[in-house]
Amino acid sequence: MIMVSKILFSLLQFFTLFTITFGSTEEATALLKWKATFKNQNNSLLVSWKPSPDACNDWYRVVCFNGRVNRLNIRNASVFGTLYAFPFSSLPFLKYVDLSMNNLSGTIPPDIGNLTNLIYLDLSVNQISGTIPPQIGSLARIQALHVFENHLNGSILEEIGYLRITDMKHNNLSSTLPTTFSIGSALRSFNLHGNKLEGKIPKSLENWQRLEVLDLGDNLLNDTFPMWLGTLPELRVLSLRLNKLRGPIRTS
Ligand SMILES: *[C@@H]1O[C@H](CO)[C@@H](O)[C@H](O)[C@H]1NC(C)=O
Ligand SMILES: *[C@@H]1O[C@H](CO)[C@@H](O)[C@H](O)[C@H]1NC(C)=O
Ligand SMILES: *[C@@H]1O[C@H](CO)[C@@H](O)[C@H](O)[C@H]1NC(C)=O
Ligand SMILES: *[C@@H]1O[C@H](CO)[C@@H](O)[C@H](O)[C@H]1NC(C)=O
Ligand SMILES: *[C@@H]1O[C@H](CO)[C@@H](O)[C@H](O)[C@H]1NC(C)=O
Ligand SMILES: *[C@@H]1O[C@H](CO)[C@@H](O)[C@H](O)[C@H]1NC(C)=O
Ligand SMILES: *[C@@H]1O[C@H](CO)[C@@H](O)[C@H](O)[C@H]1NC(C)=O
Repeated sequence: MIMVSKILFSLLQFFTLFTITFGSTEEATALLKWKATFKNQNNSLLVSWKPSPDACNDWYRVVCFNGRVNRLNIRNASVFGTLYAFPFSSLPFLKYVDLSMNNLSGTIPPDIGNLTNLIYLDLSVNQISGTIPPQIGSLARIQALHVFENHLNGSILEEIGYLRITDMKHNNLSSTLPTTFSIGSALRSFNLHGNKLEGKIPKSLENWQRLEVLDLGDNLLNDTFPMWLGTLPELRVLSLRLNKLRGPIRTS
């Protein structure tokens, strides 16, 4: 009996090892297909990205956990390309993605919703346009979304999910703030500075009892001063400047 379970255990181990190796090779191949779409192929920071039996150890700024790609940190790496060929469906264990400060253009594909384990997404300081796909807000684990300094337009995410930090400043987001944000009670920092949001500041923000930072400055909001924001217990930073707000301000 003990013998049998030992053999079974070894077999299990063998298959687990096999799956891990196979998994990361497939993931590396998928990432290479994305790299092949970059407009600058001789990017010195990414020369380590080449076919390799051990991409997890050999590739620059790729971190694996149990042999599967877990983190991708290619901030400020002179990547000149788009997200269209990013292997969203091939990296199911990806948790942390930082592609900020590159020259990525085009739109954010809705397939981003296939990164079901994503916790952190940073696409800030690029040339990305189009709308923020609602699939991002539906990611069950996402906590931080940084998309500031791009050319994103359309309305802001209604589905905030479990986000804690959202920075969308300096884009072209327009229309009004959704009157009903879904869930959102985990939100601590919300930055929409420098967009084209108009209309009212919805009362539903009152549900964000943990909100610490709210920056709605430099938009086209034309509400009366939202005195009720003062009731948020954790709020320490509030900017509403450069809008068209009206009415009395009381500080007591
Ligand atoms: C990359 O290739 C371009 C031409 O496509 C060339 O002008 C440039 O010098 C190359 N840079 C490096 C670092 O090799
Ligand atoms: C970005 O990379 C360039 C070139 O490698 C470097 O000179 C610059 O300091 C970096 N900027 C930041 C903010 O890291
Ligand atoms: C990004 O690429 C575009 C198109 O070639 C170029 O005009 C622009 O200067 C680049 N921006 C940065 C920040 O490198
Ligand atoms: C990836 O996302 C797209 C768009 O949301 C969806 O149509 C597709 O079925 C997803 N693929 C996988 C493998 O989950
Ligand atoms: C916003 O949109 C306007 C009109 O389409 C355009 O002129 C402007 O450059 C855009 N700004 C950004 C930051 O993308
Ligand atoms: C967003 O920008 C694109 C061009 O980048 C344009 O075609 C589209 O109409 C814009 N959408 C909104 C809602 O402004
Ligand atoms: C506020 O802006 C909205 C949307 O742009 C507009 O419909 C409304 O008339 C404006 N209200 C005032 C009082 O300016």
